[in-house]
Amino acid sequence: MHEFALEMMDITKVFPGVKALDKVNFNVKKGEVHALVGENGAGKSTLMKILDGVYSSYDGEIRINGEKVLLRDTNDAKKNGISLIFQEFNLIPSLSVAENIYLGRLESNKLGVLNWKRIKESAADLFQALGFNISADAIVENLSIAEKQMVEIAKALSINARIIIMDEPTAALTQSEILKLFKIIRELKCKGVTIIYISHRLEEIFEITDTTTVLRDGQIIDTVKTCNTSKAEIIEKMVGRSIDREFPVCQKEIGETILEVKDLIRKDVLKEINFNLRAGEILGISGLVGSGRTELARTIFGADAVDSGELKIKNKVVRIYSTLQGKKNSVALVPEDRKDQGLVVNFSVLLNMTICNLKKVTFKNLILNKRKEKLVCGEYIKKLGVKTPSMQQKCINLSGGNQQKIVLAKWLFADADILILDEPTRGIDVGAKFEIYLLMHEMVKTGKSIIMISSELPEVIGMSDRILVMSEGKVKGCFEKKDINPELIMKAAIG
Ligand SMILES: Nc1ncnc2c1ncn2[C@@H]1O[C@H](COP(=O)(O)OP(=O)(O)OP(=O)(O)O)[C@@H](O)[C@H]1O
Ligand SMILES: [Mg+2]
Repeated sequence: MHEFALEMMDITKVFPGVKALDKVNFNVKKGEVHALVGENGAGKSTLMKILDGVYSSYDGEIRINGEKVLLRDTNDAKKNGISLIFQEFNLIPSLSVAENIYLGRLESNKLGVLNWKRIKESAADLFQALGFNISADAIVENLSIAEKQMVEIAKALSINARIIIMDEPTAALTQSEILKLFKIIRELKCKGVTIIYISHRLEEIFEITDTTTVLRDGQIIDTVKTCNTSKAEIIEKMVGRSIDREFPVCQKEIGETILEVKDLIRKDVLKEINFNLRAGEILGISGLVGSGRTELARTIFGADAVDSGELKIKNKVVRIYSTLQGKKNSVALVPEDRKDQGLVVNFSVLLNMTICNLKKVTFKNLILNKRKEKLVCGEYIKKLGVKTPSMQQKCINLSGGNQQKIVLAKWLFADADILILDEPTRGIDVGAKFEIYLLMHEMVKTGKSIIMISSELPEVIGMSDRILVMSEGKVKGCFEKKDINPELIMKAAIG
């Protein structure tokens, strides 16, 4: 029997202005879980899309079980037992969950009549087996981002693949769903399925993978047994230098209360929320998915209407009933679902970055100062290490993590007094995370305030001055920095 399920040999892929992969040799043993890690834009997704037949023009050779294969499209990949869980969801919003899963291979009888009952039943069975609580009838656009991720996973698993590629499958999942996914991965492994696992959460790499390959700037740096390496070693190989500290320290002063939230109620979603936010403060919001964190953020920003309660900004009662009002009161929100709500993907990096604060780059609000616009954009590209061939590149051509950086830069540049960040570092590599933390500190040092929602406990703890814990639409606790520890927060979150 051949040792390797997959051999990718001397793979080179060039996009206009970018050599995404440079003679990559990537070998995966049968039945192992193989981690593929690297900074944003390193080439991970590109390599996997080649394997899935998404890109058919490249140099190099691919062998499956020792046999050379030609992968011209995704059907070829499927025939060779390869299935990819996409980093950017690949679902059709207006269709149901069941339709999305079986699209392109819907079962019909001799007359071509579709057996809807069977299709729905199969989807429902699949979800039950996976332990995911989603209805096969649900329309995809009504699902939360975590649920969309689960549908993606189910879709990939439904074809009985021999090689499954997971491109950041946990980026939008919570702890309990991640545990379910890991259980599925272990079961698949027992059945001899080979798994390629991409993630920026290095703890996961150590929990679930056997082998780790590091990719940097389109080249393979090393392939090692995961149990023989360490987080620090991987980071060093990824970024080319060591990072001694995960969270920067910040010397700053916390000032007066800038935002007061009193008895805020939104029917069925938020129940008598009370808290305040001070100038120069980073307030973390922790809680499980569905605890009301995102809803609270949207309400303060004006994206959702309130039923009752009071909002005071700088001692003035304000009515925020539209996002325009939010902006007027200098509140900004970086949403969790950035692809839909954060970015105009067909526009250039330059346009996306300055779109929210054109005032800053125009003369007298009339004429665009192109030089200044470029200067600002260049500055953020440098600060966040955005990997793009030019400012004119369309955002759709950037890697997932680099798109995230653009959305963040755009809102940091927007210069709001109160910035709400919903999962700001999702999909962002370790090095760039640190730069984002530094930018957050830069903001609060000038007296601005940040509300940060994050599912990554170490991040909320590492960055917040205070943490508000939510559960079932209520505030379950508020903890000062000095009292914060993970157990306390988990306990409050679970209730
Ligand atoms: N369709 C495309 N057109 C042009 N350039 C592209 C395209 N897809 C990817 N690239 C470029 O190729 C490089 C590798 O991108 P890729 O998406 O593979 O990175 P990645 O390792 O998956 O990063 P991330 O962790 O951010 O998802 C990047 O510089 C990216 O900008
Ligand atoms: Mg990617």
